[in-house]
Amino acid sequence: MQLGNMTFAPGAVLAPMAGFTDAACRRLAANHGALYTISEMVSAKALTFGDKKSAQLIYNENNPAPYGVQLFGAEPETMGQATALIQKYKFDFIDINMGCPAPKINSSGAGSKLMLDPKNCGDIVAAVVKESQGKPVTVKMRAGWDADHITAVEVAKACEAAGAALVAVHGRTREQMYQPGTVDWKIIEAVKKAVKIPVLGNGDIESAADAVAMVNATGCDGVMVGRAALGDPWIFAEIKAALNGEPAPEKPTLRQRLEALRTQVYEMCEEKGEWVAMPQARSQALYYMKGLKGAAGLRRACCQLSHYEDLDELFQKVYDAGNR
Ligand SMILES: Cc1cc2nc3c(=O)[nH]c(=O)nc-3n(C[C@H](O)[C@H](O)[C@H](O)COP(=O)(O)O)c2cc1C
Repeated sequence: MQLGNMTFAPGAVLAPMAGFTDAACRRLAANHGALYTISEMVSAKALTFGDKKSAQLIYNENNPAPYGVQLFGAEPETMGQATALIQKYKFDFIDINMGCPAPKINSSGAGSKLMLDPKNCGDIVAAVVKESQGKPVTVKMRAGWDADHITAVEVAKACEAAGAALVAVHGRTREQMYQPGTVDWKIIEAVKKAVKIPVLGNGDIESAADAVAMVNATGCDGVMVGRAALGDPWIFAEIKAALNGEPAPEKPTLRQRLEALRTQVYEMCEEKGEWVAMPQARSQALYYMKGLKGAAGLRRACCQLSHYEDLDELFQKVYDAGNR
């Protein structure tokens, strides 16, 4: 798979997730074989107003995998301005959010609301491409807005014509939000058939077997993994091996999993301070507890994490619950 001058073997990329895919999370994914990573979504409008909090979501990072900044917005002009403003940071490509289902985002016309207006989608891509200084521009979209507006093919074609280098398709409509069992592989297949640029399939990939099945069924060029990678960055190496016909890597030990969490939380505290980092670390820690014995007690302990050192107590509870 090709993205600008970057070439990738078959594999999986880390999906952008607001509140989760911060620099520490992206580093972890990159270190475990994610083909590339994407920032949390950043408001184009806020950037043009000089909002510091939004700018803090964009880091200059030096990871073993390329990194894209995701912008959201509804107006081509603002998206173009924001693209020009972020050029001072170190990143490899720009991703445009056409999938967010949050009412707050949709009410401004951004996120998945854009799926109702393929022409505006094309105009946004064109405006971003114009200011991207040669960096590739990718698009993350949904299947459509609702069952009466399945527009992914039209939107993908408009984005391709405007210069997008890749599209990722989350196979649900906005109406379907994150409802389990609703990811439509047919729409991913239809988009793949309709455009020449690479297409990533996204939605409910939980294992290497799921990734292989999606690629085989839809012809997509790779997969994008979100929630299943939280607490389990090893999924990237597993998917890579499965898609390249290589033996499955060894499963991580409990100790390795807990050490990964410790490193992740340490880096979060270093990068944004304990006060900001620890509430977010609680949600990250919860994902690492999945499948462990004594889950209810461990979930409670995760929710009480206030200081980096509290991890020691959590880990003791993990072992005390009989996990090895
Ligand atoms: C907590 C959370 C935050 C998300 N934030 C973003 C975001 O900032 N930008 C975006 O394009 N998608 C966002 N998404 C959607 C994911 O990128 C992905 O499309 C979705 O979770 C389906 O993939 P999965 O089943 O592998 O998790 C978010 C999803 C979750 C669960």
